[in-house]
Amino acid sequence: MKHYLQFKDLSAHEYTYLFARAALIKHKFKTYEKHHTLLDRTLAMIFEKASTRTRVSFEAGMYQLGGSVVHLTTGDSQLGRAEPIEDSAKVISRMTDIVMIRTFEQTKIERFAAHSRVPVINGLTNEFHPCQVLADIFTFIEHRGSIAGKTVAWVGDGNNMANTWLQAAELLGFTVHVSTPRGYEVDQAVAGVGSADSYRVFSDPLQACRGADLVTTDVWTSMGYEAENAARMQAFTSWRVSAAMMAVAAPDALFMHCLPAHRGEEVDAEVIDGPHSVVWDEAENRMHVQKALMEYLLRGEMA
Ligand code: CP
Ligand code: NVA
Repeated sequence: MKHYLQFKDLSAHEYTYLFARAALIKHKFKTYEKHHTLLDRTLAMIFEKASTRTRVSFEAGMYQLGGSVVHLTTGDSQLGRAEPIEDSAKVISRMTDIVMIRTFEQTKIERFAAHSRVPVINGLTNEFHPCQVLADIFTFIEHRGSIAGKTVAWVGDGNNMANTWLQAAELLGFTVHVSTPRGYEVDQAVAGVGSADSYRVFSDPLQACRGADLVTTDVWTSMGYEAENAARMQAFTSWRVSAAMMAVAAPDALFMHCLPAHRGEEVDAEVIDGPHSVVWDEAENRMHVQKALMEYLLRGEMA
């Protein structure tokens, strides 16, 4: 049994399969062709933080595969009344076939997975957001072909998305140019990468964007860090993706943002709503890649 708790839980070979499979699944969805590979299977979705895309993409995706979903939150389940995560895992995984969790510390999802009889997917933790980077790379491939050998500029917080990009770069053979304010750097140990070979750190975000094939950013204040919001608003002012940054990137550079976005904070409206931006494809592709992922975790490679 396989879990998907961080990006490096799958191999480069498995990603090659998943990207091809997601393209097929997307095509079938667009042409109204039935694809019920998870008929009668149930996905449990556990949300300890808010969500729009993750909720809708997993829920709609599971229905499209012929399955159904159970939606749980901290507030409306015994998780919020201190039932141990290990006990919750044992119970939920006896009644459902696959589990998606959005929570705080990575250790929480690891404890759940250790006591689960069924595959567990990380729907975002403080440390990682693997389903999002899976969708982002699929989107890059759709628009530009293979990401191997390319350069991705990360502008902003050294957060769960940044960590996941570092893992993806190490695994899939591309380079990340990371620029964060001082005090918000990526940490190689937290990111879980073996070396610093696949990323370069820049103090100036404009220099990080120079020549990049993809420029990407995220909110200045992630969920769970709201108490730091005022300090972050001050620290991050120079880390707003601007038209000037896109102008020094490769001429055909893409702009991505996992969303939700704050125009005028981490990105200027003219960038996210401009010609380089593929953020709506990126959001839609969450559903297609996660369908491929759920199918793979439950059934392995399918012809
Ligand atoms: N990008 C993303 O995970 O969005 P939600 O928080 O809306 O799920
Ligand atoms: N880094 C953001 C991503 C939201 C999808 C957060 O964790 O809130």
